[in-house]
Amino acid sequence: MRITLLALSIACASFACALGAPPASAADGQRPEVGQQAGRLQPKVLAWRRDLHEHPELGNRETRTAKVVADHLRSLGLEVKTGIATTGVIAVLKGGKPGPRIAIRADMDALPVTERNALPFASKATSTFRGETVGVMHACGHDAHTSTLMGVAEALVAMKADLPGEILFVFQPAEEGPPDGEEGGAEEMLAQGIFRDFKPEAVFGLHVFSTLNAGQLGYRAGPAMAASDRFSIVIKGRQTHGSRPWGGVDPIVAAADVIGSAQTIVSRRQNISKLPVVVTFGAIKGGIRYNIIPDQVEMIGTIRTFDEGMRAAVFKDLQNVAEHVAAAHGATAVSQIPDTKGNPVTVNDPALSAKMRPSLVRAVGADSVIDMDLNMGAEDFSFYAREVPGFFFFVGATPKGQDAMKAPSNHSPEFFLDESALDVGLRAMLQVTLDYLHNAQ
Ligand code: NI
Repeated sequence: MRITLLALSIACASFACALGAPPASAADGQRPEVGQQAGRLQPKVLAWRRDLHEHPELGNRETRTAKVVADHLRSLGLEVKTGIATTGVIAVLKGGKPGPRIAIRADMDALPVTERNALPFASKATSTFRGETVGVMHACGHDAHTSTLMGVAEALVAMKADLPGEILFVFQPAEEGPPDGEEGGAEEMLAQGIFRDFKPEAVFGLHVFSTLNAGQLGYRAGPAMAASDRFSIVIKGRQTHGSRPWGGVDPIVAAADVIGSAQTIVSRRQNISKLPVVVTFGAIKGGIRYNIIPDQVEMIGTIRTFDEGMRAAVFKDLQNVAEHVAAAHGATAVSQIPDTKGNPVTVNDPALSAKMRPSLVRAVGADSVIDMDLNMGAEDFSFYAREVPGFFFFVGATPKGQDAMKAPSNHSPEFFLDESALDVGLRAMLQVTLDYLHNAQ
């Protein structure tokens, strides 16, 4: 079944398919310049995407990608800054008329995943990740985001004389997180002052997504994607022989109780009628032999929340459970909750979302604009959207006719982008941008 579907997908990944006419269902009101520019630039966006797909780079290592981006922006006559947050690239376009300042962001990094798609431009790249040699693949579609924003920049430069306002193009590294021991991503771009030097009044971004079909756009107003935080808990007991547990303190039984009690954080303590919460233990490690009670048990896991207050409350609750349940067993808990800084909740500003929904409708038609469920995944666009009102929307990646819910998801070695999504993304982002700039007058 998969082979059949894949063959269909590849057939649809041709230039002819991606160069198709605007969606027949597109509603009135699509700006004529959007159609003109998208039609003109689509072959370029497609070529950039295939080149980037074939040459993916891990977070904070996007040197080739950054050069492709910077060379293109310079060729458009823009003043370009490079090396921000290691490999980030930014440029400002000043329109010929007064108007608002906005930012549009794309991410450039790939993942330590070995591609399994049989594409002529499939990745054969390898790199080093946590000391191991790994395949590298644009398994989250950031190649599409980068090439689309390159196209958006070229389109807007072509309209410069009549363009009201100023646009900051942000190409950031390491959305998936920097290598251990390094800083990176959106947080670092902001720490290095990109919104201090150019304060936008709104920020826009898009993401290709497997659970939508090509031709569809999706978004959710308010909290849209989860905050994601890692935690670690070490339960310290005292080693003894398995035949005489009273001679020590058994950290395995204490850890089991901590895991059990932690389930009540979601089921008994958080108001999940407001927003959902997830607490997952992903790994536990303790002991070596069937008849030795070990000294300690280590546990790691993830917390997903959609509200900063609930996020802080879950940290506190888990800390309490770990400490007090361990204490009830005579053990101690050493916990780091969270143990690394995670992404905050990605919030689409409700007023901005309401304002921009008609732009999505103009791009693909009302039937193809999907109101998304809460997404338990996380996205570092959240850092920008915490600074200024943000609008982050999804672009369908799975070929039409396939069940998008069963398609290989983002981050899969078989994640597949129907390239008509590039055209949809380009039109949608141009429509959003131009509607915002013109309507803000
Ligand atoms: Ni992504």
